[in-house]
Amino acid sequence: MKANQGIALVDRDEDGIDKAFRSDVLAGLRQEQKAIPARWLYDDAGSQLFEDITSLEEYYPTRAETQILQARGAEFRELIGSGRAVVEFGSGSSVKTPLLLRAIDPAAYVPLDISGDFLRQSSAALSAKFPDLPVHPVEADFMKPVTLPDEVERVRKLGFFPGSTIGNMVARTAVDLLRSMRTTLGGSENERPFLLIGMDLVKDIGVLEAAYDDAKGVTAEFNLNLARRINRELEGTIPLDSFVHRAIWNDAYSRIEMHLEATRDLEFDVCEERFSMSAGETIHTENSHKFSPRSANLLLLAGGWTPVARWTDDQDRFSVILAEASEHRNAP
Ligand code: AVI
Repeated sequence: MKANQGIALVDRDEDGIDKAFRSDVLAGLRQEQKAIPARWLYDDAGSQLFEDITSLEEYYPTRAETQILQARGAEFRELIGSGRAVVEFGSGSSVKTPLLLRAIDPAAYVPLDISGDFLRQSSAALSAKFPDLPVHPVEADFMKPVTLPDEVERVRKLGFFPGSTIGNMVARTAVDLLRSMRTTLGGSENERPFLLIGMDLVKDIGVLEAAYDDAKGVTAEFNLNLARRINRELEGTIPLDSFVHRAIWNDAYSRIEMHLEATRDLEFDVCEERFSMSAGETIHTENSHKFSPRSANLLLLAGGWTPVARWTDDQDRFSVILAEASEHRNAP
């Protein structure tokens, strides 16, 4: 058995409470600016709501990235070549991954995901579409270096990280992840791995704010679901009807921020600890950074990846970048 397989990835106390969730929520609520890491948005209901977001009229990133993957297959094939092991950070969605696999004819597909159930479902769906492709799912937290299956040890790798999920991380975390990816993908100085990554672009603020505050209120539900999850899993008493969803452009950090804003002075408990908020005060729940071509390049370079090619959709809303692990060499 590989190092990453068969490990219980969620650490629960004797009452079944996810310890990491509890400590992140309590620590975040004690801060002056209350903040909870965005990863906790994705319980089963949150993951379903995110799926619903991806087909909303206002939410352009999924459509724009899919358009690029559909249109650029021949160029991917030319630059990347066939016979690579594609390592996807996060289980592949039903649409994007097949587009890449069809274009480059890989030797194997290795999806990495922290959710074993999701991993098994998406791997089975992928195998059904590509019966001749060896699929080696690995249940692991890809934020840290992951040991890949022996079967792909000697195969040159292509990392695949679509969706602009990198944009949900602050710069320091994003750089740590890019460096971990490099370690995970291995390779020698002569056989350096590639990374194909989706990065959303800076654009008109109205378009961005609408994408994160849609007319049907699905993104609001996605945000409020975090408070619902806290109430359910952490003995919370957050009054959901006294919070509203806010999507705010933060220009200094080039990001859309999601917040839950209290509409009145209120108090609530979480795990028997009391918190109070004044009207207008917020809990910060997500960052979604938007990049310029230069800031995207800079982030990749800081993480040890040299950009090789870049594609955008026909409205210049979203970019897909091919990068190669940077050479280790002395430079000024
Ligand atoms: C997963 N991630 C890239 C989404 C984004 O666009 O930042 C999450 C999301 N949050 C609200 N809408 C979508």
